[in-house]
Amino acid sequence: MHFSWRQLSLFEAVARHRSYTRAAEELHLTQPAVSIQVKQLEDTIGLPLFEQIGKRIYLTEAGEDLRVVCREILDAIGRFEMSIAERKGLRRGRLQLAATTTAKYFVPRLLGPFCERYPGVDVALKVTNQERLLERLHENLDDLYIIGRPPQGISVVAEPFLENRLVLLAYPDHPLVGQCNILPERVAEEPFLMREQGSGTRAATEWFFRELGLAPRIRMELGSNEAIKQGVMGKLGLAVLSQNTVTLECETRRLESLDVNGFPLIRQWHIVHRSDKTLSIVAQAFRDYLTGLQLSNEKGNAGIVSDPEPAVVASALPKLT
Ligand code: PGA
Repeated sequence: MHFSWRQLSLFEAVARHRSYTRAAEELHLTQPAVSIQVKQLEDTIGLPLFEQIGKRIYLTEAGEDLRVVCREILDAIGRFEMSIAERKGLRRGRLQLAATTTAKYFVPRLLGPFCERYPGVDVALKVTNQERLLERLHENLDDLYIIGRPPQGISVVAEPFLENRLVLLAYPDHPLVGQCNILPERVAEEPFLMREQGSGTRAATEWFFRELGLAPRIRMELGSNEAIKQGVMGKLGLAVLSQNTVTLECETRRLESLDVNGFPLIRQWHIVHRSDKTLSIVAQAFRDYLTGLQLSNEKGNAGIVSDPEPAVVASALPKLT
């Protein structure tokens, strides 16, 4: 069988997105160019790789087998790139990261000093909710994952590196603002705004109330931290969000964090990779850098845990030799 790597990578993108259009967008090609190549690949193989049911496309059995082969090839290429990068040290390389939507409030800031120290390293950051991030982990699409809770049911190496405080928020003139030791039972009577299913923040909030035998009154489900913030400001209800997402709003008193027993919920941000993945030198450097932040904190740099200062961050990075 004669097919090209080009055809395989186009096929891999279509299979990953389950869409010709989105694959074409990712690869900066036209949609017909992608379909022609995939069609040629199907002709060479002699079996269809996709089938269309309604508006959606699905992989056939042959397509599923080829997708596994593509992932193996991509992994092998990744390992090859890694060995080359090792030969060149940290001067060149690629780092593919994925972080949950809540982590996007601080991850880019942590990336700044890293990219400045290693200008030859290309960094890509995919931001998505916890559920989709776990799918990416299963599909082995990224080097490292930044997530609140280490995943279950898949063997991973997970290291905590920053504190994640979940706070209960209200609009400034809410009657509970200013009260001390509010009972969770009282809060559960209020209308709540909740992140979408699949969100780690939502899972932690539900867990908190469930442990107490309570269920918050969900008034509305909103698909992003920003929408939740606007909803709380618009007096639609209370909400639980990571403090990382509301630093500014709390400083400017547009949102208030309530003194509810059990809050803030203290969680940790974790840096995670599959245990069957050999980390590239670049990924190792990034992981050491993040876990080093925690060490710097343990040595007494107050404040770094939830809001790292660029100068402290930079000192956690090894120098290029
Ligand atoms: P979320 O993630 O953005 O899916 O709520 C937070 C988390 O990883 O705990």
